[in-house]
Amino acid sequence: MGIECVILPILPIIVEFFMRYVMKKGLFITLEGIDGSGKTTQLELLKKRIQQDNHAVLTTVEPTAGPIGSLLRLCLSGRVKMNESAMAALFAADRLDHITNDINGIREKVMKGTTVVCDRYLLSSYAYQSIRSPLDWVIDINREANELMPVDCTFFIDVSPETAIKRIAKTRANRDIFETQERLSAVRDKYLSIIDDLKDESNIVIINGDLSVEEISEEIWTHVSALYEAHA
Ligand code: ADP
Ligand code: TYD
Repeated sequence: MGIECVILPILPIIVEFFMRYVMKKGLFITLEGIDGSGKTTQLELLKKRIQQDNHAVLTTVEPTAGPIGSLLRLCLSGRVKMNESAMAALFAADRLDHITNDINGIREKVMKGTTVVCDRYLLSSYAYQSIRSPLDWVIDINREANELMPVDCTFFIDVSPETAIKRIAKTRANRDIFETQERLSAVRDKYLSIIDDLKDESNIVIINGDLSVEEISEEIWTHVSALYEAHA
């Protein structure tokens, strides 16, 4: 057996160790929740806290503003009608482009030390797309993204679909195709069961989204500051 047979299987672990502790890779943090749960609000607050703590930070969102993400937004608004499996494939493609594209790919940013906070990532696909497609298939089409850009910590902001719909109604005149109480209720159930399945292998924190904006921000910061300390 050659030395390469020993090294190759553990190469990803060696690279991860080198990037994290020698090159000081940034953190990759994601926010999840049903529509109206408060992700956008917390994204901005977390960005401020990270900046106040003197770390480089970039906030971003999926679907992206890139070519595939823009097509997805047309589908979500109902302007373009598309089969939901085709949409699932587009969400996965948009994510890979978000991670790897040469202009503003987020993998490069994290590798160079910037913390990236992303409003929605893999768990959104797992929860929203597994309503119409088998979860295993959704996980498969997102496997490359998961390997290229693993998450350090995911915050799932949990609110009831009733609360979410009330908040959405207050702030927006038009609703996306998934923004019905029935659909959000099914998506929330999916989120909770998938989070339970992943609890041993992923760092996912469930936050009570009924708390005040400030309380949620404080709770998220407690976890993120601990990550920075562990990372120092
Ligand atoms: P999302 O990005 O998850 O759709 P937003 O951050 O846009 O959610 O919040 C949706 C609405 O709910 C906004 O009007 C926002 O001000 C309000 N909101 C956000 N967080 C809270 C909270 N913890 N309590 C009450 N209202 C909130
Ligand atoms: P978004 O604009 O973030 O809505 P909100 O701020 O209300 O949460 O999300 C757009 C929609 O896209 C949302 O309904 C969830 C859906 N979505 C998926 O279905 N799969 C995915 O992989 C992603 C990233 C989003």
